[in-house]
Amino acid sequence: MRKISLFLWAALAVILVNCTSVPNVEVKKLRVEMKENPVGIDIPQPRFSWQITSGTPALEQEYYQLQVAASPEQLKEGDLIWDSGVDSTYLCVLVPYAGKPLESGKTYYWRVKVKTNQGDAVWSDVGSWTMAFLNASDWKASWIGQKEMANQGETDQGKTRLAARYLRKEFDAGKPVKNALLYISGLGSSETYLNGKRIAEDVLSPTVSLYTEKVYYNVYNVTDFLTSGKNTIGVMLGNGRYFSMRNPGMMTFGLPRLLAQLEVEYADGSKDIVSSDTSWKVTSKGPIVANNEFDGEEYDARLELGDWNKNGYDDSAWKTVDLMEAPGGKLIAQPNPNICIQERIKPVSITGRPDGKYILDMGQNMVGWLSVNLKGKKDKPIIMKFAETLQKDGSLYLANLRSANVTDIYTPARDGKFSWAPVFVYHGFRFVEIDGLDYKPELSDFTGEVIYDKMETTGTFETSNPVINQIFKNAYWGIRGNYRGMPTDCPQRDERLGWLGDRATGAYGESFVFDNALLYKKWLQDIEDSQSPEGSISDVSPNYWILYNDDVTWPSAFFYIADMIYTQYGDDSAIRKHYPAMKRWMEHMLETGMKDNLIVKDTYGDWCMPPESQELIHSQDPTRKTDGTLLSTAVFYDLLNKMACFAQLQWNYDDISVYEDLAAKMKKAYNEKFFNPETAEYANNTVTANILSLRLGLVPDGYEAKVFENIVKKTEGDFKGHVSTGVLGIQHLMRGLTENGRVDVAYKIATNDTYPSWGYMAKNGATTIWELWNGDTADPAMNSANHVMLLGDLLIWYYEDLAGIKCTPGALCYRHIDMAPVFPEGLNHVTASYQSVYGEIKSAWKRKDGKFSWDITIPGNTYATVCIPKDFGVKVTSLPGICEINEDGQFIKVEIASGTYHFGN
Ligand code: BGC
Repeated sequence: MRKISLFLWAALAVILVNCTSVPNVEVKKLRVEMKENPVGIDIPQPRFSWQITSGTPALEQEYYQLQVAASPEQLKEGDLIWDSGVDSTYLCVLVPYAGKPLESGKTYYWRVKVKTNQGDAVWSDVGSWTMAFLNASDWKASWIGQKEMANQGETDQGKTRLAARYLRKEFDAGKPVKNALLYISGLGSSETYLNGKRIAEDVLSPTVSLYTEKVYYNVYNVTDFLTSGKNTIGVMLGNGRYFSMRNPGMMTFGLPRLLAQLEVEYADGSKDIVSSDTSWKVTSKGPIVANNEFDGEEYDARLELGDWNKNGYDDSAWKTVDLMEAPGGKLIAQPNPNICIQERIKPVSITGRPDGKYILDMGQNMVGWLSVNLKGKKDKPIIMKFAETLQKDGSLYLANLRSANVTDIYTPARDGKFSWAPVFVYHGFRFVEIDGLDYKPELSDFTGEVIYDKMETTGTFETSNPVINQIFKNAYWGIRGNYRGMPTDCPQRDERLGWLGDRATGAYGESFVFDNALLYKKWLQDIEDSQSPEGSISDVSPNYWILYNDDVTWPSAFFYIADMIYTQYGDDSAIRKHYPAMKRWMEHMLETGMKDNLIVKDTYGDWCMPPESQELIHSQDPTRKTDGTLLSTAVFYDLLNKMACFAQLQWNYDDISVYEDLAAKMKKAYNEKFFNPETAEYANNTVTANILSLRLGLVPDGYEAKVFENIVKKTEGDFKGHVSTGVLGIQHLMRGLTENGRVDVAYKIATNDTYPSWGYMAKNGATTIWELWNGDTADPAMNSANHVMLLGDLLIWYYEDLAGIKCTPGALCYRHIDMAPVFPEGLNHVTASYQSVYGEIKSAWKRKDGKFSWDITIPGNTYATVCIPKDFGVKVTSLPGICEINEDGQFIKVEIASGTYHFGN
């Protein structure tokens, strides 16, 4: 007996030792078309991604095997629709489906087996996705709505007061329901109920588009909302951007309309379809008596409709819906996420005004709306107005909102308490004026509901410098506040449009902080949809304003963002898809805008550079302005090089040589026209002219250092270490200064709090980023407090240069990372993280009293070169995961595989 137990002990010890040494490999974060368990994919060959993790360093995938089945059980039993077989590759990003044709409306289940260099192969959990409609003929529903205008003022073309439409339909399910999918597009914006319950947290859905070209619909699995007896579907329709009807000149597509198709599968295998048709009822006599994103929502509680979205409601006073014309655009399952409430914040103060009104301060310039719990008096409206700043006397500053009315009105049906939040508007605001209360409300009566596209926050960033930290926070609020199914210029005034130039480089910087690939991919489609038949690209997309200026610098976003989606996310589909449209635009520009190998058209110049006088919006000083032909030609040259790379990706050798030849000619003409070899100045020697030439590779060999000297001289001399560029130059400034050896100048610009600088904005109360460097003093005609275009390449610099999280050029989506931070004097620590498609990358360095330490994590299946200045006195010894240690000039270069590492002295 004793012998046996000793033997058992020994056996257990062996098992324990083995357990601790067996790496804990996991396959996580299963995604289909970059989404977790998506419902509503209409791509015939969806692509799969996953991440691998383990507690042991140097994890590499050796092979994968992907399986797809019609149910989780069939997946386990091996009754498969597709088995990829063993594919010996590290690939785990966007692996395409290659099985039998997939069917509309079917849910598929998948898992992936991964064999790594650490132990046995492991299976992932089971993921799923649901197909949307793959054929136009799947649609049985008709577009419905209400043709007549019901309210006074609805026809006012300048500022519409159209009431929300309420639509309902009762239907009998009759039998136990197994599965139910709702395909729905409620234009402009909709909110949907089944049996009185909201089916999703989405707001202002579906996403915006150029409705004559594309109409996006959402798919929801609504099985849990249905009963086996009577059911009611209710939909509210707001105007959104479909029925815009407002000045100045916003495109309008028509009155709101709905397309809905509910596909019910019963437990007994039979099916039913409930679709929008003339059996539905409609009213526009409900409580939302007017709604418009720019002007506000008016809610009259006296007109509440009771249980209009539940069974048995008496809708005899409602009308039969009108059949409406289809919007014209192709119906597409929405690829990008909808908007929803992402955060709730509380106001920080409330101040009574002499006129009995109250001013609420949210403490933050935010985008969304105010949700209230107040007490009102029957028939006495409570009026809320929204603004970003206050006037000196403490009242709202509304001048910079131009014609946007930004007013929500609630009229109580009875005396007493009520709770309310609008549905079909949003505001960009920090302050709210509340009129119509006869008591002082409490701060707790209000909640700021922050809305933007549902996407993961992928980055964190913090340093020892409070100015940088505040600017990062301001950028974070500004970026998310300007995601509205398109990246908008601003969220508050009468504009709120997808201006291309604002995002050309910004989108790349934003991608460190937000998982914005799907939003931007959809926006590239808006850009293509908005392209004119001649090939001209609209400066705003969707082109709700008609602006075909044929300049280069704004349309460049089309190319740069497609490239960003490829390099940051590893997805080349946008490049491939839009390549013909890009090519059309290039040809159009060459035909209409090129003279003597220069592009001579430009509309915006170096938009919003700091002007010579504090009141101006645009500089009038010719020494500060950069020549338009220079800007257009420099950027076009860069786009030719991009096109050559895009062509290369597709093995299109003919195009490569066309673009390369033209680029060479353009470079020659550019230098002949603008470069002075004696002084190494471009044109009138603005920082923008020189930095674009330098960073875009236009400077003749051997002159780079001299051109750079001019940039530094100008910045340190004329501008005393301040920024002198507008939207164009700022896209290259921080990286340009740093990669040419003057991180000290970049750091000064980044930490200045005197005019002009991001720090100046923050010091003067900005909690987002201003449209103008002089936003506090300039004319209100074009002066928003929440624009992101002046961020330029700042966020890229934060992550790539300060934190040292940079994708090695040519290595897609962080398969290989260059970790080579710069260490500007005065900056003592940086802590940053970024969720790449492979997993989280972390970099946290600090230095104090001659001590340096650096903690790094890189995810499974990736590698990095870690670059440590030799004079930091760090000794690197070989450890598991460290592949190589090299000395290279002033640096120790450590080649690492996945894992967590600490370097220090
Ligand atoms: C917008 C900008 C835009 C610019 C171009 C402005 O009104 O707000 O962000 O890029 O116009 O003209």
